[in-house]
Amino acid sequence: MIEKAKGEFTVSNILQPNEGVYQLDDYQSRYHTFRWEDNEWFNKKKINAAYETIDRHVEEGHGEKTALHYINQQQHQTLTFKEVQDHVDHYVQILRANHVKKGDRVFIFLPKNPDCYVAILATIRIGAIAGPLFEGFMGDAVHDRINDCQGKLLITDKELGQRIDRQQVPSIETVLYQEDISDQVTQGDRYVEWLDADDGMLIHYTSGSTGKPKGVLHAHRAVSHHALTGKWVLDIHDHDIYWCTSHPGWVTGSVYGLFAPWLNRATIVIQAGRFKAEDWYQIIEQLGVTIWYSAPTAFRLLMSKGDLYANYNLASLRHVLSVGEPLNPEVIHWAFREWHLRIHDTWWMTETGGHLIVNLPSQPIKPGSMGRPFPGIEVGILDEAGQVLPRGTVGQLAVKTSWPGLMKTIWNNESKYQEYFRYPGWYVSGDLAYQDDDGYVFFQGRNDDMINSSGERIGPFEVESSLIEHPAVAEAGVIGKPDPIRGEIVKAFITLRSDYVVSNTLIEEIRQHVRKRLAAHAAPKEIEVVDQLPKTKISGKILRRELKQREHDRISMSS
Ligand code: WT7
Repeated sequence: MIEKAKGEFTVSNILQPNEGVYQLDDYQSRYHTFRWEDNEWFNKKKINAAYETIDRHVEEGHGEKTALHYINQQQHQTLTFKEVQDHVDHYVQILRANHVKKGDRVFIFLPKNPDCYVAILATIRIGAIAGPLFEGFMGDAVHDRINDCQGKLLITDKELGQRIDRQQVPSIETVLYQEDISDQVTQGDRYVEWLDADDGMLIHYTSGSTGKPKGVLHAHRAVSHHALTGKWVLDIHDHDIYWCTSHPGWVTGSVYGLFAPWLNRATIVIQAGRFKAEDWYQIIEQLGVTIWYSAPTAFRLLMSKGDLYANYNLASLRHVLSVGEPLNPEVIHWAFREWHLRIHDTWWMTETGGHLIVNLPSQPIKPGSMGRPFPGIEVGILDEAGQVLPRGTVGQLAVKTSWPGLMKTIWNNESKYQEYFRYPGWYVSGDLAYQDDDGYVFFQGRNDDMINSSGERIGPFEVESSLIEHPAVAEAGVIGKPDPIRGEIVKAFITLRSDYVVSNTLIEEIRQHVRKRLAAHAAPKEIEVVDQLPKTKISGKILRRELKQREHDRISMSS
């Protein structure tokens, strides 16, 4: 696993910050004097993240400021902070009337729309734990997540709600439909549950290489992490129009789509639907977006459209950021040349609860690197024994514990939680990386079989389990296959049961089986039928690594 990093960085590649736009700060001095304790949230005796996110601004006199723009095809709606608060009050009233209390799990399965954000905040304001679910999930994916932490109440809409089978989620006592929740917000319930910083707030399910998705539980203490990185990394100021393209079912969509910008009182953009280049440029022009947080796959798709951007006025854009998967240097150089803007890569994970490795707006960017540790964060590249490796050597990317956003636990799975801390004093990410002499960290891949397609984290086990539920499939091994746009695509190798023969119809049927039960983004783009799958001699486990190696060999032979 350990190898020497290849290639040297040439100074001419480095992109310097635009001094005209950014206030230069001193990274070195901030790095050494920074303390998480030095902020208004850290030392609060009692806290509530939802209150800090919305209600506080109204109380401080900013109720009339625009909190959000919602764009749904031709429809454009805006809400002020006061109006968002009224909607939250309304949901609070309904949740309390349905006996939701502190610590209960409430799942929110809605499209990217204002109600989705409001329902999350209402759940959190009464001290319950919000479980936002990505709108692309199908029945099995939703059932598994709800069952793992015994969700009590589900908020959905009539369309997405059809995917759920009530029999499969016995812990759910009540299902609320968005359509039944009146838009006529009269007086709601201003109730706030005051909590300890370590009380649970948000649960995000995420995938690893083994087992079903795990429930990563975040605590209210995370707000200081959200707020500070929102200020320093997203560079939010009072006048900003901020757009994060992720759905709140993913941690980027909740932490940096909702909490970080609203804690810093930015106006956010909520856009319905997924990616379309023309629509995206149009939104920036129409709303005057100033800060834009998206993912490499989206930037690569925009780059593939060439000078399409020239048809739009993008002059409002000041700061662009990326997360979720490796950001190619070519894309950074393209954006710098064409848009005259640097794309600032950021690295973190569902488990870390907030940014850990970043490109601060005031600092030089080395394209190909994810940036440097955020102040207060120390990174280590570790060998198999947990020893810190010298700079320039590839090893396990780890972070010195602890920081405010770090997960509180993995729901009902203490041993999985402990695996992240197997080297005392370190959180181990599962990524491989090296760090150069200036502290910049370069991503080198995963240390396990986790798949990353378009920045979405996909567990091979979940896909394999779905595949073998199809009557024709005997065994399945699922890997990420390199792809120029999506980073990786999901590829399945399967063996068929003896009474089935390969045909295009059968393959398509198997693909649809996963699409309809799990999610479109997790369904294998490629399915290859093989006579047998490579397995370990002793335990008979399928060797995904060997499947991956085969695929790599084929790609390098054909290029
Ligand atoms: C995994 C975490 C919370 C951020 C969104 C994804 C990969 C994340 C980068 C980056 C290369 C990245 C890592 C990480 N990843 N950011 N800037 N460059 N890879 O969160 O779904 O929990 O996935 O995404 O492999 O471990 P996630």
